[in-house]
Amino acid sequence: MRLNNKVVIITGAGGGMGLKTVTRFLEEGAKVVATDLTVDIIHEQLGGNAADDQLLIVKADITEDRDIEKLVQQTVNRFGGVDVLVNVAGIAQTATPIEDVSNETWDRIMSINTKSLFLTSRAVVPVMKKQKTGVIINVASIAAVRPRPGLNAYIASKGAALAFTQALAIELADHKIRVNAINPGPADTKMLGQFAAEGVNIEETKEAIFRNSVPLGELIQPEDIANAAVYLSSDEAKRVTGAIFNIDGGRGI
Ligand SMILES: NC(=O)c1ccc[n+]([C@@H]2O[C@H](COP(=O)([O-])OP(=O)(O)OC[C@H]3O[C@@H](n4cnc5c(N)ncnc54)[C@H](O)[C@@H]3O)[C@@H](O)[C@H]2O)c1
Repeated sequence: MRLNNKVVIITGAGGGMGLKTVTRFLEEGAKVVATDLTVDIIHEQLGGNAADDQLLIVKADITEDRDIEKLVQQTVNRFGGVDVLVNVAGIAQTATPIEDVSNETWDRIMSINTKSLFLTSRAVVPVMKKQKTGVIINVASIAAVRPRPGLNAYIASKGAALAFTQALAIELADHKIRVNAINPGPADTKMLGQFAAEGVNIEETKEAIFRNSVPLGELIQPEDIANAAVYLSSDEAKRVTGAIFNIDGGRGI
C-alpha cells in the first residue's frame, strides 16, 4: 500500500477519471473524500465497497467557496487533516469559433477549470502548512501545450492551471507542500465527445480526430491518470514539485 492512511480529497469524483482515481487511492490504503456536483454514481459504484472510515462522499460545487470551506472542514473533522488534494473536476468546451463564444461560456469554463483550483488550494493550504507536508495535483490538459482549433476558452483555462501549479509549487516549497500537474491526452470518458463541434458525429470524431492524434495509437484510459496521481501523491515522488506530467500517449510531442 503506497498511500496508507493518507487523507485525500478528490474533486470530479463522479466523472470518468475521478471515479477511477478514487478507486485506485482506496486500493492504496488512502482515506478518500470523494466530491462532485452529483454524487449518486459515487454512492452506487463505491458506497457499498469501502468502509465508512475509508470513504466520505460529499456533494459540493467547486466554484462555491462556502461549499469548499465546508468540504475541507468535514475532511478534517472526519479524518484529522488533508494530505493530498487531487483537482480532477472540469468541463469541456464545444469547439466554437472565437467570435461565437459568449461571455457566459468563457466565465463558466474559467470558473470551473481554473478558479476552482484557487478556491480549493486556498482552503487546504493552511491545513497542510500546519502539518508541514502536503500534495496538490491539478489535472490540466495536453491541449494547453498542443491546442486544437475552437477550444479557445478551455485551452486558456488549462494553460492557467499549469501556470498556477508552478506558481504554488515555488510558493509552497518551503512548507514541504508539493504541487504538480497532469496533462491527460484525449481520454476515453464522456467528456471527450463534448469537445466535438455542434452537429458532428461524436463516435466518428473520437476515432478520426482524437484516437488518430495519439502517437501510441490508443485513447488514454482513466486508470492511466489515476496511476499518475497515485505516484505523485506517494513518497516515491517526494522530490517532485512543479512538474507537468504528460499522460498523453505522445500527443504533446
Ligand atoms: N476526457 C478527456 O479527453 C480529457 C483530456 C484532457 C484533460 N481532461 C481533464 O480531465 C479532468 C477529468 O475529466 P473526465 O474526462 O473525467 O470528465 P468527466 O466529465 O467524466 O468528469 C468531470 C467531473 O467534474 C464534475 N464537475 C463539473 N463541474 C463541477 C463543479 N462546478 N463542481 C463539482 N464538480 C464538477 C462533473 O460533475 C464530472 O463528474 C477534467 O479536468 C478535464 O478537463 C480530460
